[in-house]
Amino acid sequence: MAKARPPQRIVLVGFMGSGKTTVGAALARRLGWEFLDLDRWIEDRHALTVAEIFRRHGEPFFREEERRAVRAAGRLRRHVVAAGGGAFAAEATRAALQKGAVTVWLRCGETTLWRRLPHDGSRPLAADRARIPALLAEREASYRLADLSVDTSGMSLHDVADEILRQLPERALERGEDL
Ligand code: S3P
Repeated sequence: MAKARPPQRIVLVGFMGSGKTTVGAALARRLGWEFLDLDRWIEDRHALTVAEIFRRHGEPFFREEERRAVRAAGRLRRHVVAAGGGAFAAEATRAALQKGAVTVWLRCGETTLWRRLPHDGSRPLAADRARIPALLAEREASYRLADLSVDTSGMSLHDVADEILRQLPERALERGEDL
């Protein structure tokens, strides 16, 4: 049987405020890989913030752009990718993120989320705080489909990067792969 190819990307998924961008950048530095934040990719392409894209063009347009960003990311090697909180919840986007990658769910409890989420209007779906528990519950089943998961509650984001590194080789080896 042909040997599976080593994963080319590590994709971080999880709810807004779970630390994907900070952890992703730290993890990439440690691995000597590049880091890509999909939200930043979309923002750069439109020269607009995510909040402005939602306001001017609406969420369906943003989701289409997210799929486009994921397709572009799928061509990259040796990259850590931070996916927006809704990306892994959409089936086609999730499948594209999973291909050729190890996916890691950064779990965290609501108390930690509240602390980490800024009140600056940068996340349109977190503007109405009352909606967050339902959105979290709705997305959890999708996040569970990630290959690995790390509970980041009460952990420094640098410790989270270490924990991912600790889990990675083991899982990669289970599948006969090297990182
Ligand atoms: C979203 C999360 C955001 C961003 C957009 C929508 C979501 O990314 O993609 O505001 O649907 O949960 P972060 O998870 O990086 O905040």
